[in-house]
Amino acid sequence: MAALRDWLNCVFAGRPAWMNALMVFCAFMAFVYVPWDFFVKPVAEDQEVWLGVMFTGAAAKFGEPLHWAIYAAGAHGFYRKSHWMWPWASIYVFSVAIGMGIWPVVYHGGAVGLGVGVLGFVLFALLAVLLWRAQPHFSAHRASLRDRYPGWALVTGGSGGIGEYFARALAAEGISCVLCARREPLLEALADEVRRAEGVEVRVVVADLASAEGVEHLLAAVADLPISILVNNAGFGAAGAFVETDGDRLNAMVALHCGAPVALSHALLPAMRERGNGALLFTGSIAGRQAVPLHGLYAASKAFQLLFGESLHVELRGSGIDVLVVEPGVTDTEFQKLAGERPLRGEPPARVVAAALDALGRQSSLIPGWWDWLRANAAARLVPRRVAAFVARDVFQRRLL
Ligand SMILES: NC(=O)c1ccc[n+]([C@@H]2O[C@H](COP(=O)([O-])OP(=O)(O)OC[C@H]3O[C@@H](n4cnc5c(N)ncnc54)[C@H](OP(=O)(O)O)[C@@H]3O)[C@@H](O)[C@H]2O)c1
Repeated sequence: MAALRDWLNCVFAGRPAWMNALMVFCAFMAFVYVPWDFFVKPVAEDQEVWLGVMFTGAAAKFGEPLHWAIYAAGAHGFYRKSHWMWPWASIYVFSVAIGMGIWPVVYHGGAVGLGVGVLGFVLFALLAVLLWRAQPHFSAHRASLRDRYPGWALVTGGSGGIGEYFARALAAEGISCVLCARREPLLEALADEVRRAEGVEVRVVVADLASAEGVEHLLAAVADLPISILVNNAGFGAAGAFVETDGDRLNAMVALHCGAPVALSHALLPAMRERGNGALLFTGSIAGRQAVPLHGLYAASKAFQLLFGESLHVELRGSGIDVLVVEPGVTDTEFQKLAGERPLRGEPPARVVAAALDALGRQSSLIPGWWDWLRANAAARLVPRRVAAFVARDVFQRRLL
């Protein structure tokens, strides 16, 4: 019971009651009413009103998927407090107000029609005004990252790819950064550029985080800093048959993807908890949602990060520390080349990072990009696990160099 209560508290937190009611209404329409309307109701009985014009029969059926999409977007938008909800939710509700004003007058007429029309218009127009004024509830208008997590950020894998863009984005928010990786010249070049462009402090720590000594060296190098954002991002892939992959490379992957994030999180979380604020991010992968033959250990290590992060998200609730596992699909970095895969076009790393920083504090995990979200959820929830594994094997067979 307590679990259900805590979950419901999470779902309904941070919105006024009227907005929660709208979210529940949209979810009801998206999951119950419109599917019933579309699949069960006979075509001859179908009716749909758009901007006060009533459509019936096949024309009404034809318009239902759009209503469905609008309610689904509304439920999702209210749930996530997505920034695109402003001004679109208000504009849509105002269009409904116009329809509610016109429809009773045209189709019923008389004093009753006029009365219902005026009442419908006023009620929905008021709702549109409420939604217009609710802009601060939607994401773009939250307190800055710097205000939410005052202190330094530590980004592992900061010499390139997604880590580089985390560093750029955090510095652009005025947050001083520690950049850690093995390639010193790349780290120093990025540090110089970011210092000049953003006027923040940047400390470079050269360490191999696949070794216990490397992790200790990094922790010693940041011991004097108030680290309030830890981005566990360093990682690499190793495509190919497990038994034919070099054992040291496999051990390094486990150490880097599992050992280092555990050690860094364990060492840095107590101070965050004491200060009452902090953020812990993991760059996982959609590969962590299912078995991926020919990339099996990588998928398993990313599944580790996902479950570890999602567990900490709940464990640390109420402590002021936000936890997020961002799970990108293919992203345009050096990753594929170093993993031994054919180069593929993917999401720009800047977009992955922007989505992650926007989701931080709102959810425990995020798959950036609707196509990757659809693929990962279809594979993980709709298809039997073994079928998904065979499909993944065929996909990765074609991707091997
Ligand atoms: N790109 C994708 O398609 C994709 C998709 C899903 C998830 N991811 C995840 O995103 C994260 C970042 O990868 P990326 O795409 O940005 O690839 P990337 O461009 O190859 O960057 C990897 C970063 O990790 C660092 N690193 C690798 N081994 C290290 C070690 N032993 N010690 C310290 N740092 C190390 C690298 O720096 P040095 O070489 O200088 O040490 C580099 O800064 C990884 O965790 C990866 O699994 C990537």
